[in-house]
Amino acid sequence: MAGADPYTMPLTEANHWLPDLEAIPDGVADRARLMWLNYPNNPTAATADREFLVRAVDFCRRHDIVLCHDAPYSEIAFDGYRPVTLFEIPGAKEIGLEFHSLSKTYNMTGWRIGWVCGRADLVNMIGRLKTNIDSGIFQAVQWAAIEAMSGGEDETRAACTVYARRHRLVAETLNSLGWSIKPPRATFYVWAAVPKGYDSLGFAGHVLDEV
Ligand SMILES: Cc1ncc(COP(=O)(O)O)c(C=O)c1O
Repeated sequence: MAGADPYTMPLTEANHWLPDLEAIPDGVADRARLMWLNYPNNPTAATADREFLVRAVDFCRRHDIVLCHDAPYSEIAFDGYRPVTLFEIPGAKEIGLEFHSLSKTYNMTGWRIGWVCGRADLVNMIGRLKTNIDSGIFQAVQWAAIEAMSGGEDETRAACTVYARRHRLVAETLNSLGWSIKPPRATFYVWAAVPKGYDSLGFAGHVLDEV
């Protein structure tokens, strides 16, 4: 993007699928302009607790980095868990942008509608960029989005009940075959290691051919 060099922050099980901010070299942090985070996460289903987000905000403030939080799963959560949003964190408003999509919350995947909120000059910059890239979402979709967002949370909560049931079913089935999976607190993903002797492509091929 814009000739930038991306720096990948590995997500590992040992670190609960959160980036290890301490492992980012100072030279990288000082040159960085944008950091992307996504929690609840696709595809690991990991969630970020307040303590991690506080550290991420602090890191970005110290290094003058714009923190972009891609949060389309913020409403897809179960058993009373509510994901922490970026702007609950003190100081986030000075460096942050949070993105949301109607794709998951309102089953409007592919309708290409969402929003960004955060620091006014950054949002304004995105508006200027967008104006030069496209010309707005088909108006019927905009009306549908208004209707969806005016309708309260009942539909989303009902969908989450279905996802939670399916999560449990997938986890119980895989666990009965030897996995050890805890149904996630958010997202509609199940992140399961492939059995020993397989890589993910090989295992997907095996399941397609044999099951
Ligand atoms: C983390 C993440 N960000 C963004 C999106 C895309 O949302 P949209 O359908 O609005 O393009 C997805 C959808 O899969 C996602 O998982």
